[in-house]
Amino acid sequence: MSARIIDGKAVAAGVRSRVADGVASFEAENGRTPLLVTVIVGDDPASEVYVKGKHRACEEVGMRSLHHGLPAKTTENELLELVRTLGEDADVDGILVQLPVPDQIDPDRIIAAIDPAKDVDGLTPVNAGRLAQGMPGLVSCTPSGVMELLRHEGVDLEGAEAVVIGRSKLVGIPVARLLLGANATVTSCHSRTRELAAVCRRADVLIAAVGVPRLLGAEAIKPGAVVIDVGINRTDDGLVGDVDFEAASEIAAAITPVPGGVGPMTIAMLLVNTLAAARARV
Ligand code: GUN
Repeated sequence: MSARIIDGKAVAAGVRSRVADGVASFEAENGRTPLLVTVIVGDDPASEVYVKGKHRACEEVGMRSLHHGLPAKTTENELLELVRTLGEDADVDGILVQLPVPDQIDPDRIIAAIDPAKDVDGLTPVNAGRLAQGMPGLVSCTPSGVMELLRHEGVDLEGAEAVVIGRSKLVGIPVARLLLGANATVTSCHSRTRELAAVCRRADVLIAAVGVPRLLGAEAIKPGAVVIDVGINRTDDGLVGDVDFEAASEIAAAITPVPGGVGPMTIAMLLVNTLAAARARV
């Protein structure tokens, strides 16, 4: 195995430590502590685990967090009412409605009702639109975590061939836009892409975000590429990424493991966004 393993846990720990310092200065300057509020509708076990991790992370950096656990039969109007109330509450800096929500609720309507100034997930049409137009705003956490890993690894994106596999609103689209903003030459691949492996093999920087276990093998990796695997897939072999790690690490220059690569960055960047939202609201 020749590739350098990109240690997301270590990079995330560095980010969290900087946020902890930032929270302390924010408190000293403003006499209050940033507050993140999370909302879960229903009892999806994976959502419970993710959100608990977010609250633990807040506590570790000295931020306040509150949680609203709503019953599975909550109506769209009830959830809209809560999101609007949180938007008007001067004490609240960040609002995160964990997805998925039950079928009777349209997630797009809920997200659109979040105050863009408190949209720490960067998912509202306002923040997604700001990103699309290259304007400053809150950027969703996994894409900004990917960019932070590339920055930390010293990857030169200027003029580099970047290939993104996946076009989700949460990851694929925003990460492609951020790479473009960093002057990479960006190709977006998806389920209809022809000759996927051949397109991927052009990539100096390969970002896999499709949610298909080990979709990309040795044939999809350019020698010396940097591979960022956003996939977290539960299989009989445990958690695996979208990339065949063993095969790719024989060819790539650097690669993120699953788990321990992009995953820890997502929560770290949520803390960054919550502090940024608090600062912008002063
Ligand atoms: N569900 C899975 N990932 C996410 C995320 O990043 N944000 C929200 N709100 N829900 C999710």
